[in-house]
Amino acid sequence: MHARTHITLALTLSALLPMQACAATQQAGTAEPEIPGYTMGDRTVRKAPITLGELEEIKKSLLMSDEDIRYLRMSRGVLEPHVEELVGVWYGFVGGNPHLLKYFSNSAGEPDGEYLARVRARFERWVLDTAAAEYDQEWLDYQFEIGRRHHRVGKNATDNADAIDHIHFRHLPALTIPVTTTLRPFLERGGHSAEEVDKMHAAWVKSVLLQSILWSYPYVNDGDF
Ligand code: HEM
Repeated sequence: MHARTHITLALTLSALLPMQACAATQQAGTAEPEIPGYTMGDRTVRKAPITLGELEEIKKSLLMSDEDIRYLRMSRGVLEPHVEELVGVWYGFVGGNPHLLKYFSNSAGEPDGEYLARVRARFERWVLDTAAAEYDQEWLDYQFEIGRRHHRVGKNATDNADAIDHIHFRHLPALTIPVTTTLRPFLERGGHSAEEVDKMHAAWVKSVLLQSILWSYPYVNDGDF
């Protein structure tokens, strides 16, 4: 194998493997973890273009009820001890699909290990935020920031990456399925009944779909969202 290919592969694999001592999994009660580029609640995050009332309307369209919120919160304790492993499975999915890995690759077509690792820490935090299901103004504002980070208006900027500058919309809602399908075995680890696992899973599908809808904003024509 060519030497450069070796280096690229090593960097990619190290980014795809579970990270040690991840800040996102620090115990409650310790200082807020430092996650590069994670800016929920920062004043730098622009205000969402929809209101909390309009968010409630999308939740109604999705049949997302208070019961779903309860089951999302139940999943937090189940997932927290396994969050690194879970995100490792998702990274394995992206890493195993060249049509997705290319969005983490530099202009020479090589996966950017540092970019993968930095985004991964925020992804781990996102699992816990999704399960916390606190739909307040800070959360809503940050959803539109995450949307911009997938679109050419904001991709790469947070990590100063040199990757393709835009994730094509067609893959964004599609990833709801692998994300929530690979999540399911992790939901089974908490000792909950099959019915509770089903309900946690259904709530996660709704939440990830809700978020991919909010993240779609920069892809939609002005006035059409
Ligand atoms: C349901 C679909 C998706 C979910 C749940 C998801 C989740 C996330 C999360 C949580 C982040 C970090 C957000 C932050 O900065 O705090 C992120 C960033 C990112 N995601 Fe996604 N994502 C989805 C779709 C995709 C797709 C289809 C791709 C294509 C490979 C992708 C590639 C990326 C990249 C490259 C970044 C870093 C963007 C940047 O430069 O800041 N994502 N994603």
